[in-house]
Amino acid sequence: MESQSSPRTAVLMGGESEEREISLQSGENIAKALRESGVEVETYDWHPRKMRDFLNAGFERVFIALHGGSGEDGTVQAMLDLAGIPYTGVDARSASICMDKHLSKILVGAQTDVLVPEYLCISVPEARTRLAQHAPDRWEDSDFLSFPMMVKPARNGSSVGVSLVESPEQRDEAVRAACLSDDDSVLFEQYVHGYELTVAMLNGKALGVCQIIPKTKFYDYDAKYLRNDTEYLTPSGLGGDFDALVCRQAEDVACALGCTRGVVRIDFLADAALNPYFLEVNTVPGMTSHSLVPKIAAHAGYTFPDLCRLILDMARQG
Ligand SMILES: Nc1ncnc2c1ncn2[C@@H]1O[C@H](COP(=O)(O)OP(=O)(O)O)[C@@H](O)[C@H]1O
Ligand SMILES: [Mg+2]
Repeated sequence: MESQSSPRTAVLMGGESEEREISLQSGENIAKALRESGVEVETYDWHPRKMRDFLNAGFERVFIALHGGSGEDGTVQAMLDLAGIPYTGVDARSASICMDKHLSKILVGAQTDVLVPEYLCISVPEARTRLAQHAPDRWEDSDFLSFPMMVKPARNGSSVGVSLVESPEQRDEAVRAACLSDDDSVLFEQYVHGYELTVAMLNGKALGVCQIIPKTKFYDYDAKYLRNDTEYLTPSGLGGDFDALVCRQAEDVACALGCTRGVVRIDFLADAALNPYFLEVNTVPGMTSHSLVPKIAAHAGYTFPDLCRLILDMARQG
């Protein structure tokens, strides 16, 4: 049990992104686990419009359970830095780098030996201009990629706006779907055939690997949240040496992107020859009863209340 003088703690959840509902579930699950382990916490339904109310509420420590939007892109972290309130997870800089799939690929490619799928990145305004042109060669700078390719927004999540493009005719519609916001970019990415993997990380160390086997063509929104036929294997089932390799690579990625505080989830794809490719980092991964991080952590010997307590104990500023 914590002493009477423990800091007044909020579990910040909800938020304005399309992942709001999942965040509410993560937040309630975390609050329940922390209470079970003897920490008094209050849940707080965050929205950027409520910033002043939130700051006036007088919280002294924050457990961030916000997925996507201001809670995962560094904005909330920067606000808490300025307000002098310690918070869980990565700092504002790392959050904003990891939210950007283009930026994180550049850094991983430059600072580690981890493979990154080949890609082309064009800004949303440029993509919209090209869509309006109707020129047959308007995507010719992506011709170095072969079909199938993935088209996706650089700064979104939950597979929203992500498309598998199997032929040139499907490209326009995929780009349109990826043009979600003017300040974003569209990534055209080489499709990696093989296996989908995710690594749960605690304080920069890999806890284990999970292989995701969706029954859909790729791990889309339905496979993530709506269907119950997606298979999850921990360990991956692809061999101990392979899992150890992916774990080492995940630790290199975490180091390069500065996401070594609290829990993060790093996604990889592996080709048929089991070469892992870096896909993305989720700096505030789901913590619901169905989420992957609690499953992988349980396999590594951490109960959910222990895991939440360890994350909270690492709460810092900046
Ligand atoms: N290069 C790729 N090759 C094969 N599948 C991919 C590739 N990029 C994305 N995918 C599929 O699309 C899903 C969502 O893509 P991802 O880049 O992780 O975006 P999000 O942030 O929306 O999760 C992945 O989980 C994977 O199933
Ligand atoms: Mg993903």
